[in-house]
Amino acid sequence: MSLVEDKYIENVLTTEQLSRLIEIYNNAGDYKTEAMKKVTGSKNLKSTLEVLDESEHIDVNKIEVCHYYCHKTPYYPHTDYHYKEKENLVLPLQVTGGPNPYLIIFDQWYNNDGKTWTFKDNHKFKVNKSVKCRPFDFGEDIHELTDQEIPERLYDYLNHWPRKYWFGLTGTPYEFRPGNGIQFDSKKIHATSRMYCQEKLGLTIRYC
Ligand SMILES: [Fe+2]
Repeated sequence: MSLVEDKYIENVLTTEQLSRLIEIYNNAGDYKTEAMKKVTGSKNLKSTLEVLDESEHIDVNKIEVCHYYCHKTPYYPHTDYHYKEKENLVLPLQVTGGPNPYLIIFDQWYNNDGKTWTFKDNHKFKVNKSVKCRPFDFGEDIHELTDQEIPERLYDYLNHWPRKYWFGLTGTPYEFRPGNGIQFDSKKIHATSRMYCQEKLGLTIRYC
């Protein structure tokens, strides 16, 4: 089986479109999950899609899921694949209080419903169900694991956790730069880099 290749797309959204999306986010109600703050598309979906539809790089007809998320701490490694959600498009909207973080897309992938690997932490997520271990411990269900430590250069982005937590993984860091977009297969494990900023706001789209 083949995965969709990663695509780093520059200038997906203009500064003016970014401002409009940030405003929609700021005016919407929100709810909190344990480690991530999301705003679902439901109430504000129409106005969000209107902005997205202006970009030639976004196919709004293929959008299955669309939500805003705001983090103050790096998010765990996870996959987002579900029956109808096959490809991710991450749109960085705003980074405050420091340099842009990175989204790390690993080469390793998981051919089943989304999971979140929370290492030693206890979390219960409704979607992308949590498993309390490293991706490596999850075993053969994960494709293309290596039998080695994560490369040193990649670990530089992920050193908020001990190096052994990332054992068996390889991958690519993509800058979380507002205006650009990161498109990749939802089956691929991905995680936020160490954050030297205070907060980041993004919009995640999943295509069917
Ligand atoms: Fe994700």
